[in-house]
Amino acid sequence: MKGDHSGRVDFLQLMLDSRVEDANGLNKEQKALTDTEIMAQSLVFILAGFETTSLTLTYVFHNLATHPDVQKKLQEEVDSYLPNKASPTYDILMQMEYLDMVIQETLRMYPPAGRLERVSKQNVEINGVTIPKGTICMIPTYALHNDPELWPEPEEFRPERFSKENRENQTPYTFLPFGDGPRNCIGMRFAMLSMKVAITAILQHFTCRPCKDTLVR
Ligand code: HEM
Repeated sequence: MKGDHSGRVDFLQLMLDSRVEDANGLNKEQKALTDTEIMAQSLVFILAGFETTSLTLTYVFHNLATHPDVQKKLQEEVDSYLPNKASPTYDILMQMEYLDMVIQETLRMYPPAGRLERVSKQNVEINGVTIPKGTICMIPTYALHNDPELWPEPEEFRPERFSKENRENQTPYTFLPFGDGPRNCIGMRFAMLSMKVAITAILQHFTCRPCKDTLVR
C-alpha cells in the first residue's frame, strides 16, 4: 500500500507502489508499471547491477590465484597506497594503476556481456556491406576480446596490455566490456569503484591460491 513500506524502501517496493493510484488523483496510465515491466526491471537490476560485478570479481580472483606474481605485485601496490591496512578512499583507488589494469585485463578475457546489439536507424553501407534500416546488428564483444590479431595470445592473462603506453596503441572499438556510445553501461563507474573497493579490502587480508578443483584455461 502507498506510503506503507513495512519498514523498507527499495526499488521493488517503489515499483509496486507505482501501480497504485495515489492521493493526488493521478491515474494508473500516468504512473503505472505493469507486472511484466516490474518483472523486467527487476531482472535488469539483478543481472546488470549485480551479476556482472560479481562475475568479474570471481574471474579477477581466479586470475590472481593462478598468477601469484600478479597477485603479489597488486598486493604491493595496495600496501604502498594504503599502509597499515588503511581503508580505501575514492581518490586513492583512482590512483592505483595496476589495480585498474588487472580488472581491465580480466574484463577483456571474460566480458560478462559477451555481445552488444544495436538496431540500424537508417540504411547504411559499411565496407561494401549494406545494412537495411531496422536490422538488428550484433557486435561480438567476446570474439573481439579474444582475437589473436588484436590481442596476441589472448588466452594469456597479461595486465600489461592495459598499461598507459599500451592503451594508446589499442585499436578503437576492439575492447568493449561496458559497450560504447550514448547507450553504454550506465553503471560503469560505480561498478569499477565497487570492484576496486572489494579487491583492495580482500587483498589487504587474504592471498588467493588455486585448489585441486581450480580449472586453468
Ligand atoms: C563489471 C560490471 C558491469 C559490466 C561489465 C557491464 C556491462 C554492460 C554492457 C556491455 C552494457 C550494454 C552497453 C551497450 O549496449 O553499449 C550495459 C548496460 C547497462 N548496465 Fe552495465 N555493466 C556492469 C555493471 C553495471 C552496474 C553495477 C549497473 C547498475 C548499477 C549497470 C547498469 C546497466 C544499465 C541500466 C544498462 C543499460 C543502459 C542503457 O540501455 O542505456 N551495469 N552494461
